[in-house]
Amino acid sequence: MQIEKLTDVVGARITGLDLSQELDSETHAKLHQAWLDHQVLVIPEQDFTQEEQIRFARSWGEFPKRERYEKRAEKDTADKSIMLVSNIRENGKLIGSLPDGEMMFHTDGAYDEHPYNYTMLFALELPSTGGNTLFANMYAAYEALPDELKSKLANCTAHHGYYSGTVQRDQPVGHFNGEFSHPVFIEHNETGRTALFISRLLTLRINELSQEESDEILAFLFDHTEKREFIYEHEWSLGDLVMWDNRCLNHARTDFPREERRLLRRNVIQGVRPERGRVDVAA
Ligand code: OGA
Ligand code: MN
Repeated sequence: MQIEKLTDVVGARITGLDLSQELDSETHAKLHQAWLDHQVLVIPEQDFTQEEQIRFARSWGEFPKRERYEKRAEKDTADKSIMLVSNIRENGKLIGSLPDGEMMFHTDGAYDEHPYNYTMLFALELPSTGGNTLFANMYAAYEALPDELKSKLANCTAHHGYYSGTVQRDQPVGHFNGEFSHPVFIEHNETGRTALFISRLLTLRINELSQEESDEILAFLFDHTEKREFIYEHEWSLGDLVMWDNRCLNHARTDFPREERRLLRRNVIQGVRPERGRVDVAA
């Protein structure tokens, strides 16, 4: 197994693995450490059946117990643990979720008491251009904040909410999926590191501030976290498995031609309620 950094700040490319085969425990542990070190892993040239993907995904934890609110769009052939991210329509009906267009930065499940630890996507069909997925390192975004703002927000919580299927905050679609407040700075429960936990798509307000100040600071934080210096942009190839850690990354999607097919097979792994992260500022 080889590990190669994708940028200075986030992401690694892993080669030398065949994920359709069960990994021995030593390789699994190495992959886990690489995941904690680099936050998002790109594992190209995989050939996965649905069952093999599920076995691999399950090796990282439990699938969410929470039923998805809406009746699933997915075809009956898709396992219950699978979400298809796709714009493909069969007989005028979508076969998956999050079909079209650009998607704002977010983290999966932040609107729930127990956000997802991990998400993985496997690329089955891709448009000729666009539909890239961007990943922003939220440890680095936290660390780069001015001390004054770290202190100000150290004990604050932010409220998150989501309408299922929404890709742009001001254009809600689907049912209301849920809402929950978490600390603005959370502690990653495996690394102990502090990460900023807000996003343009999901975060509605900072509870302890006035509406006006909340709006102002959130606008600043959204722009801050989306600076190129914190980001890896993934241009997909068929057979890529991309797996990321929602506790310390935000992700987004670029636009792509509506008339071209895009299909990715997705699993998520249940997480725990995030604790408040430690804030260190110079005295
Ligand atoms: C997701 C997601 C982005 C993409 O599946 O949670 O945000 O590139 N997908 O489709
Ligand atoms: Mn997502």
